[in-house]
Amino acid sequence: MCGIVGSIHHQNVVPTLLQGLSNIEYRGYDSAGISVLTPRGIKTLKRSGKLEHLRNLLDSQQLSGFCGIGHTRWATHGEPNERNAHPHSNDQVSVVHNGIIENHSQLRQWLQAEGFSFNSQTDTEVIPHLIAYYLARGYSPQKSLNAALANLKGSFALGVLFDQDQQHIYAARRGSPLVLGFGEGNVSLGSDAMALNINDDRILYLEEGDQARISLNSIKLVDNNGKAVQRKQRKNEIRHEHCSKQNHRFYMHKEILQQPDTIAQTLNHTQQQLTELVLDFSKISRLNIIACGTSYYAAMVAKYWFEQQAGLCVDIDTASEFRYRGAPLDQNSLTIVISQSGETADTLAALKHVRTQGCKTLAIVNVIASSIAREAHFSLQTQAGPEIGVASTKAFTAQLSTLACIVLKAAKERQLLDADNSASLMDELQQLPTQIQQVIAIEPELQALGESLSDSRDAYFIGRGCSFPIAMEGALKLKEISYIHAEGFSAGELKHGPIALIEENTPVFVIAPADAWLDKTLSNMQEVSARSGRCIMLGDQHSLTTLNIEQCQAPPEVVLLPCSSALTSPILYVVALQLIAYYAALSKGSDVDQPRNLAKSVTVE
Ligand code: F6R
Repeated sequence: MCGIVGSIHHQNVVPTLLQGLSNIEYRGYDSAGISVLTPRGIKTLKRSGKLEHLRNLLDSQQLSGFCGIGHTRWATHGEPNERNAHPHSNDQVSVVHNGIIENHSQLRQWLQAEGFSFNSQTDTEVIPHLIAYYLARGYSPQKSLNAALANLKGSFALGVLFDQDQQHIYAARRGSPLVLGFGEGNVSLGSDAMALNINDDRILYLEEGDQARISLNSIKLVDNNGKAVQRKQRKNEIRHEHCSKQNHRFYMHKEILQQPDTIAQTLNHTQQQLTELVLDFSKISRLNIIACGTSYYAAMVAKYWFEQQAGLCVDIDTASEFRYRGAPLDQNSLTIVISQSGETADTLAALKHVRTQGCKTLAIVNVIASSIAREAHFSLQTQAGPEIGVASTKAFTAQLSTLACIVLKAAKERQLLDADNSASLMDELQQLPTQIQQVIAIEPELQALGESLSDSRDAYFIGRGCSFPIAMEGALKLKEISYIHAEGFSAGELKHGPIALIEENTPVFVIAPADAWLDKTLSNMQEVSARSGRCIMLGDQHSLTTLNIEQCQAPPEVVLLPCSSALTSPILYVVALQLIAYYAALSKGSDVDQPRNLAKSVTVE
């Protein structure tokens, strides 16, 4: 939700700021802008729409300076136009902001009464004016910022420039992440590590409530109480190739095809991490799993796994519902939160709520040192690597891989799985990278299927058991990038209402691996076929043998996938659905990596 960059360099920072914004454009692409300090004051350029519009503007206008900030916006308050684009500035101060200022209306009224005029509809614009209010009363830049912050309610990460202080960028975090980067002859600021200068070899995550004043020669950090603090610097693990599409047209395609590697790495890494995890599942009475969006579908799959393999009762919740539901928690329960970014505001708030109830928490995140990883008692990092396409793909299969390993640990500790069976299930998981290569090998077939959806108004996905969440995820992938109306249902629920939606040739994807639910799933497919729906069955050789073609009104189209088990089929089948959605979106001309209205990492409620 909005990306922030900042840079101080011996050379002109404008190219660095643009590069940083390009690396985090996935955080929002409604508008982009930059401000730099120049001897003639703060200069700001901004444009609505994608970053390339700002880049074109910069090609035609001279702008340079050694210290600057930039922003890429996902609109919350005010339309996505140029007036509402960040940075928001006055003669003395320029501000980039990620988050929401909840008391902006009251502050705006008060500042207007004090003679300030507003150019935008944003909540952010109160910040530079509030700071200017205190500057006018003789406060120093730091003191004016402190005084302004004391008036703000809500969540924010801020980067601030002062016309009267040409050496420094000021930064503050409350509720939204901020990272500093250090390299040879430069310092940078970012809302995540991807935003930093590619030459920064060390990074430092600001803690909740921290403020920083950074220059080329010094960093001053203070905590929530204004006390000077040191924070740990760590090696910057982001590599240049992570930020490039390589030969792929879209990041999403690159990320789908990376899955054999990311899954193999995640399985290996998780097994190592689990040997150090001091959690005994035989002492846990109940599990709660909380997440949002695609990560929530990983939670749904895990519920089946934990219940069946480890005999654990599992409650699952979307974080936005959980945090206000007031669910009573069992003191011996464990809460698992799942998040690719580790910054999703609802998931973070749900996690904090669980901690206040005194219950144990475990985070599964893809971004190390993210807020969620730091807030939880325990955390495990998936090895998907940076995911840049807004639609989550490799992060989802990495989450499932990690969850599968935890399930095996839990089943062993609860005496429901002996060492031999555990080893053979682990072997099945280790086959996944090879099996996913086999799915990728039928890409042309999946492409043709995806393209065949381009004129469809609706598409439905059905499955039972562990395939039900995969049906939901298949529908989410398709709708978010192709804008075709898509819904996932549990196959058994179809006859309780949704079947009314089936018209002649309505595409219905049937997720039908040969598992305990297969017969019933195939019966549900017949019900669709009997109503002239277009059935597309994803199954394996056994599913095909079980299918009684004579009973079908029309034989289904079949996508043949490798044989799998309840532990591996969700990971395998979703890859085929990702590719189908990708090609459906391409055929409709969508910007696959940056679908409309979306942003990666939802750091507002
Ligand atoms: C969909 C998608 C989102 C995210 C959701 C949670 O493709 O990417 O639904 O899964 O916003 O994000 P994280 O996992 O970062 O908490």
